[in-house]
Amino acid sequence: MKKAYIRTFGCQMNVYDTGKMLALLKNDGYEETHEMDEADLVIVNTCSIREKPELKVHSFLGEARKIKRNRPKKDMTIAISGCVAQQEGQNLLNRYPDVNLVFGPDAVPNISTLLSATYNQKQVLDTTFLDEADYVFASDIDPNATQRVGAFVTIQKGCDNKCTFCIVPTTRGKEVSRPSDQIVAEVRALVEQGIKEITLIGQNVNSYGLKKSGERTFAQLLYAVADVPGVERIRYTTSHPRDMGLDVMQAYRDLPQLCSQLHLPVQSGSSRILRRMKRFYTRERYLEVVDQLRSARPDIVLSTDFIIGFPGETDADFEQTMSLLEDVRFHSSFSFKYSERPGTPALRLVERDPIDQILAGERLMHLQKRQREIAQEEHMLLEGMVVPVLVEGPSRHDEGVICGRTHTFKTVNFPGDVAWVGQTRKIRITKAFANSLRGEAV
Ligand code: 5AD
Ligand code: SF4
Repeated sequence: MKKAYIRTFGCQMNVYDTGKMLALLKNDGYEETHEMDEADLVIVNTCSIREKPELKVHSFLGEARKIKRNRPKKDMTIAISGCVAQQEGQNLLNRYPDVNLVFGPDAVPNISTLLSATYNQKQVLDTTFLDEADYVFASDIDPNATQRVGAFVTIQKGCDNKCTFCIVPTTRGKEVSRPSDQIVAEVRALVEQGIKEITLIGQNVNSYGLKKSGERTFAQLLYAVADVPGVERIRYTTSHPRDMGLDVMQAYRDLPQLCSQLHLPVQSGSSRILRRMKRFYTRERYLEVVDQLRSARPDIVLSTDFIIGFPGETDADFEQTMSLLEDVRFHSSFSFKYSERPGTPALRLVERDPIDQILAGERLMHLQKRQREIAQEEHMLLEGMVVPVLVEGPSRHDEGVICGRTHTFKTVNFPGDVAWVGQTRKIRITKAFANSLRGEAV
């Protein structure tokens, strides 16, 4: 059997695409390896959301090239997929003569054909975007899915929003919703293989189905997935606050399978900055959505994304972001300094309002510190409580300790038996940390 090594950077979409690639490669006689040294095929699935992950790709390619050059017959195929591949295309092939194949996210379903083409062609490139009629959502089940308790299911690709900081619309193209019957069929197949928790993924899940006549809406899709027998938990990501409708709030009232956890990126607490980001909601509207969610599902736990130091962000704007954090009390957040991305509209704002990197760094540290405190405070409230935990597997650090997740997506570590994997157990929380909880089975 030939061996494939895939290194994945970036978001859940890339993780999912990697899973699909592995499934398709398996049909072609490949098995996965975790040692690049023994691989016949090396794929790096790349991310370009910020500059940092993009830079990592280049150091990875340096490593892969070295291994290839040291082989007497140079018998290693190197491929680059994902968002950097889509964005840079031919530039990557020019810069790295040892790379055989560069292909974008839309070409993932064609991986076999593309690899065959590399046998008689030195370098192959496929970064075409497919329109709705031609795009095929690969429906082979990820071979790694069966070993896990939860699985991702793609419901949509691309994004039609134009947030001014974001490169995704350029790298992943227009929004296309996957037919809901196909989604439900994939969920059914996963549950039959023992999967308990389904995470529906897309760049902007709340707008699912809206542009396709006769298709279910996102809320209707949630009901359809909940109807599949054996689905114990449903999560979804990523949501856009503008599109959180009342029908989704109703789903939180009706569907116990829908988890009490939501990642709802706010980006900034200042309506002025939100306008510059073209997010199409205000601070007030965001807080209203949070209120609506909490009245539909009082125990819902929220997390978010923040961008700090967006062009033109003043002290007053940053104060607004800090006060939003206090108002909502997110249990966790991803926060990054604004990063200039090629071809994005915000670059024009940078020219007008250059960013003081030192100030932005200080603001970021300040926000992250307060976020850690809030997380710790919220987690301490859980000490002594008994909560259902879906067991996922052995803990990475301690022998005899296993871990799982609460409905609210908290990781809990506790002494237990790996035979419990896939079961929901009652766990008493004994100690709170900022990023996880410790407990004991009751
Ligand atoms: N700079 C910093 N953060 C960004 N994100 C997206 N684009 C940028 C950028 N140019 C962040 C946003 C988004 C998350 C996935 O990445 O917060 O929600
Ligand atoms: Fe980027 Fe905005 Fe689309 Fe999210 S919604 S992928 S931030 S353009």
